[in-house]
Amino acid sequence: MKILAIESSCDETACAVVENGRKIISSIVATQIDEHKLYGGVVPEIASRRHCENITAVCDEALTKAGLTLRECDAIAVTYAPGLIGALLVGVNFAKSLALASGKPLIPVHHIKGHIAANYIAHPELTPPYLCLVASGGHSHIIKVNDYTDFETVGRTLDDAAGEAFDKAARSMGFPYPGGIHVDKVAKQGDPTRYKLPVPKTECPYDFSFSGLKTAVVNLVHNSEQKGEKINVNDLAASFQQTVCNILISRFIKSASDFGYKTIALAGGVAANSGLREALAQQAQTHGMTLYIPPISLCGDNAAMIGSQGYYEYLNGNVADSSLNAVASLKLG
Ligand code: KG4
Ligand code: ZN
Repeated sequence: MKILAIESSCDETACAVVENGRKIISSIVATQIDEHKLYGGVVPEIASRRHCENITAVCDEALTKAGLTLRECDAIAVTYAPGLIGALLVGVNFAKSLALASGKPLIPVHHIKGHIAANYIAHPELTPPYLCLVASGGHSHIIKVNDYTDFETVGRTLDDAAGEAFDKAARSMGFPYPGGIHVDKVAKQGDPTRYKLPVPKTECPYDFSFSGLKTAVVNLVHNSEQKGEKINVNDLAASFQQTVCNILISRFIKSASDFGYKTIALAGGVAANSGLREALAQQAQTHGMTLYIPPISLCGDNAAMIGSQGYYEYLNGNVADSSLNAVASLKLG
């Protein structure tokens, strides 16, 4: 079954063709980052406008690269939640039009479920059940993946998402949006023990909180500036990254141990972080767990992951009609 998938929940306009949920036939991602960078973050109005301008060409390119026509695809999958509402609406309405014009089924996909499904493309042997840590710009969740379409949230961030904390801390260090990748880069040259940063306490041992940590970095930079002291950015980036990774990993591994999982997975934009990938792989090995991580190309927003999850949603009978609407925030299950 070949699914044409569409993703437009934030600042990437993406289309892909995916076969049987596991094989990418084509995948096109048009990023708007260079434009949003000018404003230090995603401007929702601009995001929606660029999606409108780009989505037809991105979709055409995905079909052309796949060597297929719309008629030769079996279904249309689309991210309908969660995300920026104006951005989601572009993809949802585009997908609805394609489904209507072609008579193909329309499959609604939850963005976070899509991030998790990126692992199915990369790892043919991975099947549920397993425990997944999803860390992105908008979400940080520990999720029981009971089945392809059956999810249970075990822990979540109480305030900022991990990626959001990376981006805001990075901004205070002078890096452009999105700063996560820059922190990752310079952290490699830094001393992670140089700056002591706060580790939050949460009532539930599987929850996260990154707001205090982010504020601590911002304050540290401001206070140093006021005193005329120089911050060592490499050391601060390394200290911040290691603190975030320790928080994510310790709570994820604890939940995996407590719930008896031997198979675990990582997903979301922050899964591209080299420190997180390495440290989690080490911890998984220590605890005798098998860890699955998508390649960097499938960690950030893309449509292939939506096509993958869309396949399993379709098998489960999750098909929408033309009343499908976009939803800005929607819990996972
Ligand atoms: O999943 P994603 O592409 O979009 C959302 O659904 O939010 O995640 C984007 C987030 C941004 O905050 C970005 O800074 C972060 O992922 N990110 C990274 C790295 N690459 C992307 N954070 C840390 N290290 C990286 N290498
Ligand atoms: Zn995402």
